[in-house]
Amino acid sequence: METKLLKRNIQVFLAIASCLLVILFTSVSTMGQDSPSSLKVATEPTFPPFEMQDQGTGELTGFDIQLMKAIGEAAELNIEFITLPFDGIIPALQSNTVDAAISGMTITAERAQTVSFSRPYFKAGLAIAVQDNNTNIQSFADLEGKRIAVQIGTTGAQEASTIEGATVSSFDSASLALQELINGKVDAVVNDGPVTLYAIKEAGLQGVKVVGELVTEEYYGIALPKDSPYLDDINNALGLLIQNGGYREVYQTWFAGEPPELPLVPPSLETAQVISFDWGKLFANLLQGSTITLLLTALAFTFGLIGGTAVAIALISPYKPLRLICRIYVDFFRGTPMLVQLFMIYFGLPGLFRELGLDFSFDRFPAAVLALSLNSAAYLAEIMRGGIESIDKGQWEASQSLGMSPLQTMQDVIFPQALRRMLPPLGNEFITLVKDTSLVAVIGFEELFRQGQLMVATTYRSFEIYLAVALMYLVLTTLSSFGFKWLEARMNPLQRRKAA
Ligand code: ARG
Repeated sequence: METKLLKRNIQVFLAIASCLLVILFTSVSTMGQDSPSSLKVATEPTFPPFEMQDQGTGELTGFDIQLMKAIGEAAELNIEFITLPFDGIIPALQSNTVDAAISGMTITAERAQTVSFSRPYFKAGLAIAVQDNNTNIQSFADLEGKRIAVQIGTTGAQEASTIEGATVSSFDSASLALQELINGKVDAVVNDGPVTLYAIKEAGLQGVKVVGELVTEEYYGIALPKDSPYLDDINNALGLLIQNGGYREVYQTWFAGEPPELPLVPPSLETAQVISFDWGKLFANLLQGSTITLLLTALAFTFGLIGGTAVAIALISPYKPLRLICRIYVDFFRGTPMLVQLFMIYFGLPGLFRELGLDFSFDRFPAAVLALSLNSAAYLAEIMRGGIESIDKGQWEASQSLGMSPLQTMQDVIFPQALRRMLPPLGNEFITLVKDTSLVAVIGFEELFRQGQLMVATTYRSFEIYLAVALMYLVLTTLSSFGFKWLEARMNPLQRRKAA
């Protein structure tokens, strides 16, 4: 009877596994099929009016996108857009994962050392955005000692990092940086002028104004891997479009007036700088990031343990409504991505409170600790519940007959035994938490992973830096697992006796 059941199970398992394999193979083979002649062009589409997703159709649109399509037509190249985070674009070009990138990318001397640029296709510059009611910031000089939000890896981030005494927090997109300004958590955003202006004028961003319009002069170019065979084709096509009015047509779809004259070589390339890579600085930054990672983990685990214990007790309590509430809590936090929870708490909650007429905003640190704690409490509660329920029910009765109260029984009989069984899964949870802290990078928190990203954004040495980051995490998680092993040994009465 039992062997039959086992056979059935194996058959079902094999059937599911082969279905999955078929799906995998068909998707891999169709992935490889995208026509060999198509040019893979990277873009980061949260940068209207240059690149964005059309609200209705979901397709990519914007000035850069239309221009690139026109270039593709003129050069007889089939364009295939690939969306990537902005700070991932240059590494992708370096590794030839993509053939080109059009992403409102400023031609800078530093970047030109690792990638090639087409001739300039747009004249832009940085602008400073502040809250509507702010009157004391007019220029870069006024930003000294202020809190500034930027998009990671951009010229705005580079510029902000040179301002004395300023605290710069970096976000994955310009819109998140602007959200930070609206929520009142920074004093200013340094971002490309046309983009901030478009957000205010066309997208209806409220509570924000632009001061110091185009405080720098920048030219956008299409970036290609060094020595790309497509560089000439793209330059020729762009030249042709500028001559035959094709460029003007695309320009006027997105901007008013006549397009400005564009130089053949941007002024920024006339002076070249050398990027030096400093291992000492990398190590120092990663060490600093690790301290923050550890601190976040320790706090979230402590709060998670406290909250988790309370929830676990509620889950096994005789009160049905209480059990139900706690079940919903656990299912919600286990069943939804941590990243979504983090965005809800950090970006969403202040907005909700503002709509209710309350002035409330979160600092990064409490928001990160709160999100991580709420999430780990849900997992920890389940671990604890499982541990407590794994102890034989007879022990409750035995303690009761010895005259012990339920609290005493829990404290002196059940919990100590349950704790030993819970230690291995608790250790797993701790290690997961160490790694999950990397998610708070998205709210501009400079923990270990973000420190790595920031270094990559200025040096473009992605492989070495991310490897170093990974090794740092490995050190942290290995140390944690040693810690838990030690605890396990200590709590094992047999081993303790041996040691004594
Ligand atoms: N022009 C700036 C730079 O090159 C910002 C570009 C950001 N582009 C984007 N698609 N998010 O650094």
